[in-house]
Amino acid sequence: MADGSQQSSAQAATAVQPTRAASEASGSSAAHSVDAVKIYGRGDTAVRALDNVNVSFDKGRFTAIMGPSGSGKSTLLHCVAGLDRLTSGQVYIGDAELGALTDRQLTLLRRQKVGFIFQSYNLVPTLSALDNIVLPLTIAGHKPDGPALDEVVRITGLGPRLRHRPSELSGGQQQRVAAARALVSRPDIIFADEPTGNLDSRSSAELLDFLRHAVSDLGQTLAMVTHDPLAAVRADRVVFLADGRVVDEMTSPTADTILGVMRHLGD
Ligand SMILES: Nc1ncnc2c1ncn2[C@@H]1O[C@H](COP(=O)(O)OP(=O)(O)O)[C@@H](O)[C@H]1O
Ligand SMILES: [Mg+2]
Repeated sequence: MADGSQQSSAQAATAVQPTRAASEASGSSAAHSVDAVKIYGRGDTAVRALDNVNVSFDKGRFTAIMGPSGSGKSTLLHCVAGLDRLTSGQVYIGDAELGALTDRQLTLLRRQKVGFIFQSYNLVPTLSALDNIVLPLTIAGHKPDGPALDEVVRITGLGPRLRHRPSELSGGQQQRVAAARALVSRPDIIFADEPTGNLDSRSSAELLDFLRHAVSDLGQTLAMVTHDPLAAVRADRVVFLADGRVVDEMTSPTADTILGVMRHLGD
């Protein structure tokens, strides 16, 4: 360790399992929250959906978020993605604190830096699959062409069906279009809220292959909510929520270790 390899081995160790402090200090966090609180409603009917959540999504990693129904998973994703605002605390995409942005600035930042995949696909029904995929580029005024687009289109595996409208595609194909749309502008982070929730097991596996490839081979960052341990095992790390709090987390998950925590949480 007396030679020049010392630094690189230290960096490698950090890359495998960074602490929160290390990841934020070194700028390796694509997005993170600090004491995030989200309260819906007021008075007697107020619901504390997020209760001081501190979570960081490291660049180039695939994080799964699990927890019982109503534990705040969607709320967390929506607030970190800038689709909704916190009651208190902060969320950051890179260095940008979303609470400090105007609605217009937030829209622009979302467009440039964030991709989102919904359980229900949310494609534009009147556009072809290809036009749906390139929509983020056309909205941003970019010409949709080049190798990056070809690569994204290729890995959808849709081939000639790219000219079809969403209603002419299976659920699995529609969700691959939605995933390609989230990926095509190469955002800093992609959020996915139960993206396999409406898919059969084969379509789920195809979508997860697609997402895993985006992280492992294209260097994307992904945060994905799922109920399915078989989906979560594809992640590098799993964060568990219960009652609006982070209650556990693990790296290199297996179906057994995930099920052990889920059973304990009583999903
Ligand atoms: N728009 C809303 N208005 C009021 N309560 C909400 C709203 N959205 C979510 N909640 C409540 O916040 C809590 C967390 O919800 P959610 O984030 O959707 O959980 P999950 O995605 O883990 O199932 C739940 O108690 C839910 O009923
Ligand atoms: Mg949800």
